[in-house]
Amino acid sequence: MSLSTETIKSIKETTPLVQKNAEKITTRMYKILFSDYPQTKELFANAEKDQHKKLAGAIAAFASNIDNLEVLFPAVQKMAQTHVSTKVLPIHYPMVGDSLIRAISDTLGDAFTTEYKEAWIEAYNFLGDILMKREQELYAQK
Ligand code: HEM
Repeated sequence: MSLSTETIKSIKETTPLVQKNAEKITTRMYKILFSDYPQTKELFANAEKDQHKKLAGAIAAFASNIDNLEVLFPAVQKMAQTHVSTKVLPIHYPMVGDSLIRAISDTLGDAFTTEYKEAWIEAYNFLGDILMKREQELYAQK
């Protein structure tokens, strides 16, 4: 599976705005995640205080390398390892996805059109599938 040309175009068009607002978006994302999905809170119990920056960095890197995903593979490996050590499971992905998309929407307002929103959902699911697959392999090795 790969992302469609339309999706890549939409992600590229929104990358500057998302990057510019990355910290705001991630702060909002955690607010939504922890209030609507409190069961995820314990996973972040030992989170470093620069976690916001890391997630913002991952979103920005993902966005800017959307059509060159090999560049992201070392980052995917590191994310998967961290996720496995903090016990992230596939059930958590829709929770983070919903919180992230709503956070982008709240932050960008009307600039985040339906078309852009659909592209981000598709891209999140795409990256999520790659991460879940790698995480499943790592869990199986334990
Ligand atoms: C496509 C989806 C996701 C992306 C791009 C992503 C990205 C990241 C990144 C970049 C890190 C830092 C890794 C490191 O440098 O060690 C991280 C850590 C983490 N992520 Fe995710 N993540 C995603 C989904 C999830 C989900 C579904 C959960 C579950 C609630 C989650 C929970 C965590 C936790 C608990 C940490 C460790 C926090 C810390 O110790 O600082 N992530 N993630």
